Amino acid sequence: IKRITVPQIKSMKGQDKIVCLTSYTAPFARILDEFVDLILIGDSTAMVGYNMENTLAITVEQMAAHAQAVVRSTQRACVVVDMPFGSYQESPEQAFRHAAYILQKSNASAVKMEGGAFLAETTRFLTERGIPVMAHVGLMPQYFNTMGGFKAQGLSEEMAERIYQDALAQAQAGAFSIVIEGSAEALARRITANVAIPTIGIGASPQCDGQILVTEDILNLSGPRIPKFAKQFADVQATIRDGVKAYADEVRANTFPTLDNCFGVPKKNA
Ligand code: KIV
Ligand code: NA
Repeated sequence: IKRITVPQIKSMKGQDKIVCLTSYTAPFARILDEFVDLILIGDSTAMVGYNMENTLAITVEQMAAHAQAVVRSTQRACVVVDMPFGSYQESPEQAFRHAAYILQKSNASAVKMEGGAFLAETTRFLTERGIPVMAHVGLMPQYFNTMGGFKAQGLSEEMAERIYQDALAQAQAGAFSIVIEGSAEALARRITANVAIPTIGIGASPQCDGQILVTEDILNLSGPRIPKFAKQFADVQATIRDGVKAYADEVRANTFPTLDNCFGVPKKNA
């Protein structure tokens, strides 16, 4: 099996919907690899995997380690890694250094960074130096403190125009695709119609060229914090609870383990 490349993802615009999900670890990555085109190691693991209040505190080392686990466990999906907060906003050089570290550690194919026009120079800098960039505009969780929480974006005409210009700037700077998160539907549709690269929606528009969600959010594994834009497609929590309860019951009843699960037990004579 050949892994889907960044240019292949780019060429899917106007052809096939691009199916994306997040993964942070091997068990999910192995399963997702059968069904999705692109796997993102999202910094959402800060909240989903580490139960942090927002995404700000996850580190480059942690992102690289999760990315390594996912790349090792997949063969087909294009793997993209989120650059964590503070690892790229300072300068194009800082961004390149951390992106190169993450890709060298993990062997992933590209990085994602949150930012519009102000970050376009960085996108160009990385792309020209061999690191493909997925842009991310609209609701950008790493700007939690300046936004004052997680809020839908582009609802006013003025803000929508700014985000539209952000998307154009990123496309022009060489981003190979662009995530649009938590934004007015008409804005996401307008961006999708006017950029040559695929848009990946999350709380954006059905017209986006692809869609992404946090895997735990669609499997009922995220706890109480499920965003409006997610949809539950299965109840894996219930399945896990059944399995864990059955194990606990058998240990307490001393019906597990049996001697079949033990070593060095003399075979019963026939
Ligand atoms: O961190 C993340 O999971 C993301 C997406 C859901 C787009 O950035
Ligand atoms: Na993210």
